[in-house]
Amino acid sequence: MIHPEIILFLARADNGVIGDGDTIPWRLPEDQRRFKRMTMGKPMIMGRKTFDSLPGMLPGRRHIVLTRDKKWEAEGAEIAGNLKNALKIANSPHIAVIGGAEIYKAFLDKADRIELTEVHISPTGDIKMPAFDDAVWEETEREDHDAKNDQPAFSFVTLKRK
Ligand SMILES: NC(=O)c1ccc[n+]([C@@H]2O[C@H](COP(=O)([O-])OP(=O)(O)OC[C@H]3O[C@@H](n4cnc5c(N)ncnc54)[C@H](OP(=O)(O)O)[C@@H]3O)[C@@H](O)[C@H]2O)c1
Repeated sequence: MIHPEIILFLARADNGVIGDGDTIPWRLPEDQRRFKRMTMGKPMIMGRKTFDSLPGMLPGRRHIVLTRDKKWEAEGAEIAGNLKNALKIANSPHIAVIGGAEIYKAFLDKADRIELTEVHISPTGDIKMPAFDDAVWEETEREDHDAKNDQPAFSFVTLKRK
């Protein structure tokens, strides 16, 4: 099989926070719309905790869930016990890895591209991701958005493996 393009989709605050408990500590409708548009039609790989935190199934996309619990099941979820198996099940030229932190860290070495939303706040949260290494990742696109109403400033950034 041809090597698939593995794309990480994540939103990260300036202090590294990506989650707080089982939620994300901000709401950015524009980011949600971009996420939907860019992931549509791609199989999504996610951790079991992220799957549990979804409000429901995301339409138009397969949900491949990593878990070590052999008894775990959920309607609509395709289950994988390890990374290799998740990629095999995905069987697609473009694969979206959608979190959370454990899964991003596990796929970081395999990822070709990161679609990063920088959220320009420093919220409280126990789930973090370190900054991406400039020696490995090249910023190829950036779109900055000012804060407005109750929404923080944010930037859509594309990082490609050098
Ligand atoms: N800001 C963002 O863009 C974003 C995106 C997604 C999620 N989040 C946030 O991230 C948080 C969840 O992240 P998290 O790191 O706690 O959990 P997670 O990565 O979503 O899920 C972790 C679980 O995945 C399974 N797992 C991990 N590595 C595995 C492996 N190598 N093989 C098989 N199964 C594996 C285990 O499930 P079992 O325990 O079932 O074995 C583990 O408990 C939430 O706060 C969520 O809101 C943020």
